[in-house]
Amino acid sequence: MSTHLQAFVHTLRFEAQDTISVELRPVDGGDFPAFTPGAHIDLHLPNGLVRSYSLSNSSQERHRYVVGVLRDRASRGGSRCVHESLRVGMPITISVPRNHFALDEGAAHTVLVAGGIGITPLLCMARRLQALGRPFEVLYFARERKGAAFLQELQALGMPLHLHLDSEAGGPPDLRALLAQRPPDATTHHYACGPAPMLDAFEKFCAELGHANAHIERFAPVQVQAAADARGHYTVELRRSGRCIGITPEKSLLDSLLEAGIPMDYSCCEGVCGSCETRVLEGEPDHRDAVLSAQEKASNQVMMVCVSGCKSERLVLDL
Ligand code: FES
Repeated sequence: MSTHLQAFVHTLRFEAQDTISVELRPVDGGDFPAFTPGAHIDLHLPNGLVRSYSLSNSSQERHRYVVGVLRDRASRGGSRCVHESLRVGMPITISVPRNHFALDEGAAHTVLVAGGIGITPLLCMARRLQALGRPFEVLYFARERKGAAFLQELQALGMPLHLHLDSEAGGPPDLRALLAQRPPDATTHHYACGPAPMLDAFEKFCAELGHANAHIERFAPVQVQAAADARGHYTVELRRSGRCIGITPEKSLLDSLLEAGIPMDYSCCEGVCGSCETRVLEGEPDHRDAVLSAQEKASNQVMMVCVSGCKSERLVLDL
């Protein structure tokens, strides 16, 4: 199955200060592939950049994908291009949805923690939980009311919503205290999406408070140093192609694979989008991405070849 889809911009909508939603529909009518809450898609933007955005609409919908995009003041060209260059009716190539932030629909209780535009995947999760009649609550943090995207849609869902606006509360939220309101419980799942400092704090507090099922989705790459025992030189065996490639420190594993003519999916090249995920058959990767959970990393079943390295002399990939 092709991993790319041809879509067009059906609607651009103001959602909040500096935030628009982009509704995409299939060029040839019909339906898009189904997706699950927490999924994201890549947009192949007119300026040549490829950027990932979380889907915010109901996962029951197949006729459209909707993403929310904040114009990032520190934009390296992605969000600025979405805000300034996309036009209604414009064709655009997108990827099929991928999900590294999957919702456990069977959880006894779910807590969704959103910082700013991090609300987009959580709104999709909230819609799903509400449709299933599962108990959940939302903690939504924003600097100001005018910048809180999708607030009305969230309020319309009718679940308990703790809205914290820095400008009205006189400062940032006490995340630890909010997370501590609920005692640790193996049947509760916590999901967070937002700026990196919030996610770092969320992970730390969940660990301290004993919230075992804590899940995050990052937008930005994390700086992960190579492990002390990572190798500069190693051999990669491509099991399906029956080839071996020598990897050296000057080039990423992804670049080495591409140079060897191996067709690879990739977009961010920063360990954030998950598109270069590759199955590991043998060997020990040195995971440096922001996609896989600690558990997934420990299992060594897959790796993001754009940023990750290798700790063993030999790595066998399902390529
Ligand atoms: S290309 Fe995005 S995670 Fe590797």
